[in-house]
Parts: sequence; structure tokens; C-alpha cells
Amino acid sequence: MINYAQKNPEAEAPRTPSAFDEHIAPSPRISVQAFCETVEVAAAVQAAGEDRRLGKAHLKIQMGGMAAAIEAYRNAPTPNVIVLESEGRGDILAGLDQLASVCDAGTRVVVIGRTNDVQLYRELVRRGVSDYVMAPVVPIDVVRAICNLFSTQDAKPVGRIVAITGAKGGVGASTIAHNIAWAIARDLALDSVVADLDLAFGTAGLDYNQDPTQGIADAVFSPDRIDTAFVDRLLSKCTDHLSLLAAPATLDRVYDFGTEAFDSIFDTLRASVPCVVLDIPHQWSGWTKRALISADDILIVASPDLANLRNTKNLFDLLKSSRPNDRAPLYCLNQVGIPKRPEIKAAEFAKAIEADPVALIPFEPQLFGLAANNGQMIEEIAAKHKVTDQFLQMAQRLTGRAEAKKPRSSILSPLFGKLLAR
Ligand SMILES: Nc1ncnc2c1ncn2[C@@H]1O[C@H](COP(=O)(O)OP(=O)(O)OP(=O)(O)O)[C@@H](O)[C@H]1O
Ligand SMILES: [Mg+2]
Repeated sequence: MINYAQKNPEAEAPRTPSAFDEHIAPSPRISVQAFCETVEVAAAVQAAGEDRRLGKAHLKIQMGGMAAAIEAYRNAPTPNVIVLESEGRGDILAGLDQLASVCDAGTRVVVIGRTNDVQLYRELVRRGVSDYVMAPVVPIDVVRAICNLFSTQDAKPVGRIVAITGAKGGVGASTIAHNIAWAIARDLALDSVVADLDLAFGTAGLDYNQDPTQGIADAVFSPDRIDTAFVDRLLSKCTDHLSLLAAPATLDRVYDFGTEAFDSIFDTLRASVPCVVLDIPHQWSGWTKRALISADDILIVASPDLANLRNTKNLFDLLKSSRPNDRAPLYCLNQVGIPKRPEIKAAEFAKAIEADPVALIPFEPQLFGLAANNGQMIEEIAAKHKVTDQFLQMAQRLTGRAEAKKPRSSILSPLFGKLLAR
């Protein structure tokens, strides 16, 4: 009997890393062993192993293809996943039959091959191969093939995590995070959770006018209890589609966390909520760095001065090199135009960062001050204000979605407008 898990292999052409909006759920803690025949495929698998989505997987790569795999498992137990590169058609099938006799139950096999042939796919399916990926492959193809083995249909919809942080303290990162989450929930009608990670001083509760007795501290200090039902009970509902995982904002204990302290909370949220917005405080520690690197999308909020520019640049450099298969982070400039304050122009900022800001949010002390003191969102106070529209645009950009409620204006509408005006 062949023990590989059954799943239809897809004859999928390798996609380029530009498919950033495709959602690939991170893999669980699994062991993966790859047996490659060419250095190109070995390099792609190696790079895939460094992708954030395979951060929990243990990956070992060997050369020698099928023959090496059969040899390796004669006496050793098989891992959760075997990735096999195989050049020839006949060799694959004969080799798989041999491998099946030494494979443990539950081991899944992904084949990377060069033959684009329906007949061959059928034979592979019959032998229980989980996926067949056509070479040449880029790292994200390997990431996708491995991660998809563990993201079952039942676990969907899988949520996107958007991380928002400030390049400096007090630049308005939390305010922007809360307003963007509000727009995602209200205007895009996407179920969202804001997680306030500033446990000591977080303002999400104040901004949404909520005073929950439970929140993120209950989860992070009870790691053994974390599951969907438990985290659900800690959420406080702000609007139809928006919930808050609030910070205690108390100082009776200190909040020194290990690097992986929030992993299971994020995994649980990701499994049950379509969009999770992380309000990450401006600090640099193992867990803040990890939360940024493992997010699906990142927004850095900066104010237009030199320290913000340096910090944004450093964050960009680090995040881009740690996430080679992801979209670059986004940034916006906030509190632009404070009277009498010298500022670095957006164009200069863009030149140094090598990317344009996604928004230039004006300094509007009356509007933002009123919202903060009333526990309201900007949209509730000034629905028609330019800033409200900027939050909506950033919400769309970060979720890859168009507005749900208002129909998109037709390209014909200016023409109709003119005709009607006659
Ligand atoms: N565009 C703006 N115009 C005027 N005031 C603003 C603007 N954006 C934010 N503010 C105000 O700036 C203050 C700081 O905002 P916020 O708490 O969101 O910053 P932060 O970057 O999260 O700070 P921290 O580093 O403490 O987390 C708040 O009082 C907020 O209302
Ligand atoms: Mg903040």
C-alpha cells in the first residue's frame, strides 16, 4: 500500500514572486527533506527554506534525487514532507514505487519535474503524490507547494495580517492603524480584529471608546489556553465587522516577552479572521521584529524629519532583505505641514527610501484631537474629509480589495455627467 496523502497535483506553471496578493498560510512545525538533482532547484529550495512562511519548518537539502532518497530511508524514518526533483519520466514512477515501500504513513511527497504531461500526472496521482511542480522553480513555488499541503479547505478563510508601526514614537502609528482597521471593517465590509500590542500604554480601547476587562494580556500570559474559542472570548466588538483585542494599559506588571510569545495568538487569529491589524509599538525587540517580518503586509508611519527618515530607511532595508519573496513594506508620511516646523520634502524622502509614500496625511490637530478625546474615528467626525479618504485608500491597498459598499465609478460617468449637464 502506498502511504502518501492523496491530493490532486496541479500542473501549475511556476509563478514569479510578483503574485504578492496570493495568500499562502505559514506551515506548521514540520520536517522537510529535499533530494535535488540540479543546483538551480537546490538553490530555490534553500531560498524557500528561508522564507518567513517556512520559518517553523525544519528543512534539509541533499543532492542525488530519487536514488539518494530511496537510499536514505532504507533505515531512517521519513519526514513529514519529501521534495523530490526528478528529470526523467520513467525514473520517477519506478523510483516512487520503490520509495513507497520504505515510506512512513503520513509522509507527503512533492515532485519537481520537467515533464508537462497529463498521463504522467495521472500516474503520480495514482501513486499518491501530493503535488507536482514544473521546473524551473522560483522559491515561492516551493513555499506554496509545501505550505498548501497543510492549509486544509476547512481552515479557510485564512486571514491576512497587516502590521503597522511608527518609524519613531508618537508619529501617529496607532491612530492610523485604528482608522485603517475601521475603514477595512466599515467600507470594505471585511471582518477585522485590531490587536493592540502596546500592552502598557496602548490607546486602541480609548480610540474605539471601549473598556473591556479582558484582552491580549489574558492570551499572552496563558499560552496553554490559546485556541479559537478562548481568543474569541477576549475580543470586544466595536462595530459589525470590527473587534478589538485590547491592551490592558496598566502598569502593575512589566511586559518583557520572548521572541515567539505572540505566535500562537497570531496563528489563531489568522485562522478565523480575514484581516488582522497589528498596532505594533515603536520599539525594537525580538517579538516586534518577528511580528513585522511575519506579517503579510507592513505599513510604516513616519513624520517628515531626519530621524524618521533614517529609521524608515533602516526598517525598509532590514524588512526587504528578510522578506525577499514579499512585497516591500509601504510607508506613509503623517503630521505633514506642522506650522513653522522645517520638514523633509516627500520627494526627498521617496528618493532616500527608493519608494513613494502611499499617503501624505496632513497635520490636523483639531480633527485628530477631537477624535482622540471623544473616542471616535476620523470618519465618524468628518466623513467627507480628505483624511478619511486617505485611510480608505490605504485600507484598500493593504488588503488588496476594492470598496464593498459604494459601486466603483464607471469610466463612462464623466461622459454621462457632461451629457446630463447639457
Ligand atoms: N495627522 C495628524 N494630525 C494631528 N495630530 C495627529 C495626527 N496623527 C496623529 N495625531 C495625534 O498624535 C498623537 C500621537 O498619536 P499616536 O498615539 O497614534 O502615535 P503613535 O505613533 O502610536 O505613538 P506611540 O509611539 O506612543 O505608540 C495623538 O494625540 C494623535 O491624535
Ligand atoms: Mg502607538
